Amino acid sequence: MEKKIYIASDHAGYEMKSKLCDYFQTLIDLGTNSNERVDYPDFAYKLTSEVLQNNGSFGILICGTGVGMSIAANREKGIRAGLANSAEIARLIRQHNDANVLVLPGRFMKDEEAKKCIQIFLETEFENGRHKHRVDKL
Ligand code: RB5
Repeated sequence: MEKKIYIASDHAGYEMKSKLCDYFQTLIDLGTNSNERVDYPDFAYKLTSEVLQNNGSFGILICGTGVGMSIAANREKGIRAGLANSAEIARLIRQHNDANVLVLPGRFMKDEEAKKCIQIFLETEFENGRHKHRVDKL
């Protein structure tokens, strides 16, 4: 079965999200759907609820800084959300932290770097090994 990849943003991440959805056509878009102001926790929880219900699925969240979405998502047990502004961090949060949600700072990174982050995040496996018992402690 194909892994489901959900994406959601607030208004500050809406434009980046639209471009990413055009580029990665299999992303499942949970909103927001315009530049109108919304509250990032509503979209964070909408996405984490899907990720938790669909075993093995991943999520991508975008707000202005990436911090609000990270705080909200990480309140949910079973969610490991990592904020990345470079492809290298996107790779490391999969390898070391087994992140199941990638958070992007929409107002502080270029669209091309965001595409690279998503590509690497989706391609990279958790390394297990010395990282496993640390992740188990979360
Ligand atoms: C919205 O203006 C902004 O506060 C939000 O996108 C985010 O950066 C919060 O952490």
